[in-house]
Amino acid sequence: MDLSERVVLVTGAGRRVGRAIALRLARAGSRLAVHYRSSAADAERTAADCRAAGTPARTFEADLADPAAAAALVERVVAYFGRLDVLVNNASVFETMTVEEFDAGAWERTLRINVTAPAVLAHAARVALREAGGRIVNICDAAIQQPWADHVAYMVSKGALETLTRVLARAFAPEVNVVGVAVGVAAWPEHYDAQTRERLTRRIPLRRAGTPEDVAAAVHFLLRDGDYITGAILPVDGGRHLA
Ligand SMILES: NC(=O)c1ccc[n+]([C@@H]2O[C@H](COP(=O)([O-])OP(=O)(O)OC[C@H]3O[C@@H](n4cnc5c(N)ncnc54)[C@H](OP(=O)(O)O)[C@@H]3O)[C@@H](O)[C@H]2O)c1
Repeated sequence: MDLSERVVLVTGAGRRVGRAIALRLARAGSRLAVHYRSSAADAERTAADCRAAGTPARTFEADLADPAAAAALVERVVAYFGRLDVLVNNASVFETMTVEEFDAGAWERTLRINVTAPAVLAHAARVALREAGGRIVNICDAAIQQPWADHVAYMVSKGALETLTRVLARAFAPEVNVVGVAVGVAAWPEHYDAQTRERLTRRIPLRRAGTPEDVAAAVHFLLRDGDYITGAILPVDGGRHLA
C-alpha cells in the first residue's frame, strides 16, 4: 500500500508506542488521526510533530471503555478527513491481576478496552475501510505464548485480540487486510525497577529490550509491503517467543 495521503487512525497515540507509530506513518506521508483519552498535551505534541513532518494531523479524544464513544470516534475521524484507510488498535490497559485478586469489574474493563474496543472500531470502520481497500493493525503481545499468571485479564484480552485479528482477516477479505504485531518489550512499564528490567532482558534471545520505533517499523512494513499478508501476527520481540 502506498501510504502517502492515506488517513490513519492510531489509538492511544499520545505517548510511547502509539506515538512512535503515528510519527513513523506521518513521515511516510499519511494523514494522522491521533487518538487519546487522558494524555491531551502529549497527543497535541504527537499531532504537532506529525504536522512538522509535513502532513495533516489532528487529535481526537475518546474513552474506549465506552463502546458508543469508540464507534463515534470512527465517525468523527471520517467526518473530518472524509475517509479512513488504516486503523491501528494500539490503546490498551496493562494491569496486574492474579487469580486470587480476581475482580469481575476490573476484568470487564480490561476486556472492554483491549478487545471490545478494537472490535467496535473495526465494525464502525468497515464501510470506510472497504471503500479504501484499507488495513487494520492490532497491537498484540508476544507474552501470551508464555502467559504471565499475575496479569490474568490482560493476557486473556491479548489472546482474544489475536483471535479477533484472524476472524476479522477472514471477515474483511478480500478488500481489507487485517494483521497483528505481537510486541515483546518495547517500552518498559514506568514502575519497573532496574533489577526487573535486567531480569526480563536476560530472557530475550537478542539480549536487549526493543523500542517503540521497532514496533513502528514493523507496522510500517506490514502496511507498505504487506499486500499479500492477512491474518498474520508478526512477533517483534527479539525472539522472546522462542525462549
Ligand atoms: N510497552 C511494551 O513493552 C509492550 C509490550 C507488549 C505489548 N505491548 C502493547 O503495545 C501497545 C502499546 O504499548 P504501550 O506500552 O505504549 O501502551 P500504554 O502506554 O500502556 O497505553 C497506550 C495508551 O492506551 C490508552 N488508553 C488506556 N485506556 C484507555 C481508554 N479507556 N480509552 C482510550 N485510550 C486508553 C492511553 O491513552 P491516554 O494516555 O491518552 O489515556 C495510553 O497512553 C499496547 O497495545 C500494549 O498492550 C506493549
